[in-house]
Amino acid sequence: MIVVETIKSLKQELEKYNSKNVGFVPTMGALHDGHISLVKRSVEENDVTVVSVFVNPTQFNDKADLERYPRTEEADKKLLEAAGCDIVFMPQVEEMYPEEDTRVFNFGSIETVMEGKYRPGHFNGVAQIVSKLFYAVEPTRSYFGEKDFQQVAIIRDMVKQLNIPVEIIACPIIREESGLARSSRNELLSAEERKKAALISQVLSKSVNFAKDMSVEEVKNWVNDQFKSDDTFKMDYYDIVDGNSLQSVSSWDESDYIVGCIAIYCGKIRLIDNIHY
Ligand code: PAJ
Repeated sequence: MIVVETIKSLKQELEKYNSKNVGFVPTMGALHDGHISLVKRSVEENDVTVVSVFVNPTQFNDKADLERYPRTEEADKKLLEAAGCDIVFMPQVEEMYPEEDTRVFNFGSIETVMEGKYRPGHFNGVAQIVSKLFYAVEPTRSYFGEKDFQQVAIIRDMVKQLNIPVEIIACPIIREESGLARSSRNELLSAEERKKAALISQVLSKSVNFAKDMSVEEVKNWVNDQFKSDDTFKMDYYDIVDGNSLQSVSSWDESDYIVGCIAIYCGKIRLIDNIHY
């Protein structure tokens, strides 16, 4: 495994592979089993796997969130090596943003809901960096986790708008033993909060059983109610949406691809998760 820090050295390394299939996994580091599952899938399906580690400032609408974002470079390299990654790309902010990126993407109704609504500018920043990374890596396939359900839809739309010839592959959510979706932010939870946070996935999976007998509205209310008795939790939203359009559904037979998406604070830490109905 080789670690490169500039686009020029990345391109030089990639040339050695003579336009074979390139798999690419963009990350912000602080790697865990969720990220590693994407890397392993890429290693299986491609001749060469590139993983980028870059904490992208333009996607943080909350400066404190950017500042406390965990950075674990050395541990990341070890995990990537063990997973079979070939090239790690760790660029500097100055190279990725030599000047302010003023591009404003328009993703229409898929960005005005859920994360797009609660984190204004977030997906624009994601599209800015992922497009720049795609130009640098020129991957055949790129792997994203369904944990960030809306992000996958944004990326698919972005590559369509920009005619970037890359196949976007969505991979399932990897969870901790408690059911909590793996996230770099879990490390920021206190031991007690981390235990409590297991409730999120428990509530979501229970709600799937209720879906048979309850309306969409009733399931939404039930999910919201489960977090009301504990001050540790503060709900941003629980929405039940069509998995393609990301628009709320009002009945179960409106779509055969329905996903429930949650964003909730556990203490100071904002967690997201989702489940298929
Ligand atoms: P980051 O949060 O580091 O996540 C990198 C990739 O790992 C994303 O595609 C994310 O969905 C996936 N991932 C995270 N936790 C996962 C889990 N528990 N199971 C499966 N996949 C998981 O997402 C980003 O970084 C950034 O927005 C990025 C795309 C790198 C652009 O800066």
